[in-house]
Amino acid sequence: MGIPLSISSDLDLELEDIIGQCVAILGIRGSGKSNTAGVIFEELLRNNYPLSIIDIDGEYFGLKEKYEVLVVGRGEGVEIEVDETCAEEIAQISMEKNVPVVVDLSGFLSDERTAFLQEYLGALWNLAGKLRHPYIIGIEEAHEFIPQGVKTELKELIARVALRGRKRGLGAIVISQRSAKVDKDVLSQAGMLFLHRVVHEVDMRVYSELLPWRKAETKEIITALSTGECVYLNGDNVIPIYVRERETFHAGFTPSLEVVVTPELKQVSQAIIEAIEHAKQGKGKKTRIDQLEEQLAHLESEAMKKDETIARLEGIARTLGYIKIEVPQPSYPDVQNISKAIVHSVEHPGSASGRSPAPSRAVGTVATKVAPPAAPLGVIDIEPSTAPTEADDPMVLPDAVIRHIERIVKRVSRKSILHRRILSFVVGHAPLAYSVDQIAAWTNCARGVIDNDPPRDFLEMGLLVRERRSGKMHYHSNLKEYVAREFGLFQPDLGISDLHRIMRHLQARLVLLGEEQ
Ligand SMILES: Nc1ncnc2c1ncn2[C@@H]1O[C@H](COP(=O)(O)OP(=O)(O)OP(=O)(O)O)[C@@H](O)[C@H]1O
Ligand SMILES: [Mg+2]
Repeated sequence: MGIPLSISSDLDLELEDIIGQCVAILGIRGSGKSNTAGVIFEELLRNNYPLSIIDIDGEYFGLKEKYEVLVVGRGEGVEIEVDETCAEEIAQISMEKNVPVVVDLSGFLSDERTAFLQEYLGALWNLAGKLRHPYIIGIEEAHEFIPQGVKTELKELIARVALRGRKRGLGAIVISQRSAKVDKDVLSQAGMLFLHRVVHEVDMRVYSELLPWRKAETKEIITALSTGECVYLNGDNVIPIYVRERETFHAGFTPSLEVVVTPELKQVSQAIIEAIEHAKQGKGKKTRIDQLEEQLAHLESEAMKKDETIARLEGIARTLGYIKIEVPQPSYPDVQNISKAIVHSVEHPGSASGRSPAPSRAVGTVATKVAPPAAPLGVIDIEPSTAPTEADDPMVLPDAVIRHIERIVKRVSRKSILHRRILSFVVGHAPLAYSVDQIAAWTNCARGVIDNDPPRDFLEMGLLVRERRSGKMHYHSNLKEYVAREFGLFQPDLGISDLHRIMRHLQARLVLLGEEQ
């Protein structure tokens, strides 16, 4: 046999039934929700059950008429004005010393409310995890803190208490006049409901989902409820009840012409008040100097973080600079001379003295691998060379042709640097064909990189040709043919010498594009 609670003569309820419960009290304005909640709180206080009431309208300080309750916050019946800075201490006093607390939020601005509740409920949750003894939190106008469809940090905290508090002995009593606006997950977890009168269709729908009756029945029964009456719902137990009137002063009573006198209120022990005053002085309102010092410390730490970021970025920049220096670009003038030496050595095998400077050891290696010059395929016979002369000046060409040259250069410039380097080397050393090994050596790229990422764009454009010679892949310039094709449209206005000029000019431009990053 448990400890009976005197809530309604129609209802047998015991204190044990409340432990770890999520209780919902719903109904329209003036239907008697706060009275019902007040009656439950009275019964809990009578049995020394520890609790906190989150009181948005300053309705519950009247409990002090009979019980020792600490009222904090900002409002009419408040004993100690506090803000979020000492919320944690109050939660600790309440839970550890078994002191019932009413948190009067009626004088707080909405962000102050949120700040206080986050600290307070967060602290209660953590303490409940350690202490694991029964404790209940009542929340008035719960739809403001656990609105359906909106995600806030505070809502998550309250929902956590409602959904997962049981294992910590933590219960919740959520009170709301907007049934449809309260988070559905929390409502669905409520094991005990006091459903007062509602009239709006949306609220009635919520009731219909909760109650086992047909819709029309639900509507009929619920709309017939008068003040103080409600449907009590707990599992299979569904009964209409009348909740007794509060014994203690109900500051949220509906005003009448009768004179209401606020009764004598009980005070919590002086030691508790002093403990909170002490916490307030330590962490309470900060002086302007404190605030500025805090701001300064914050700015200093921000500046320090920024300095660290700058140092880190400088390090990265240095590393990048180092890499850039360490990767030598091919020296094209040298390449041209060496190429001529190669051509010369191919044309005059056995000749020791060439027109070009003597090739280096690396050049010698390449020279031995050079394939025979590619067979001429073009429609125009042009002597390839990379050094443009005055005769190659494109300015003498028609505007349309110059524009087309620029389009081609632009298109090439958008391709990857690896491909541009390959193009630059092969076009700059036309008409010979070069193996991938040779190109790799001259462009300073690993052979595998070229194998994996061949210059497909330029093969497709027709600037380069790839063919297998002696079992090895070779590339050679196709610029002559490319120019003939691309600029063939402009004939007969363009003569052979013009095509030649275009080719020389393009060749020089493409060689340069291999040097740009
Ligand atoms: N069981 C009851 N017996 C007698 N009077 C009651 C009962 N319940 C509520 N009342 C009275 O009805 C009025 C409204 O009650 P209460 O403040 O509890 O309603 P409420 O649903 O909380 O309203 P609100 O949504 O405006 O907060 C009060 O004056 C209260 O004293
Ligand atoms: Mg109320």
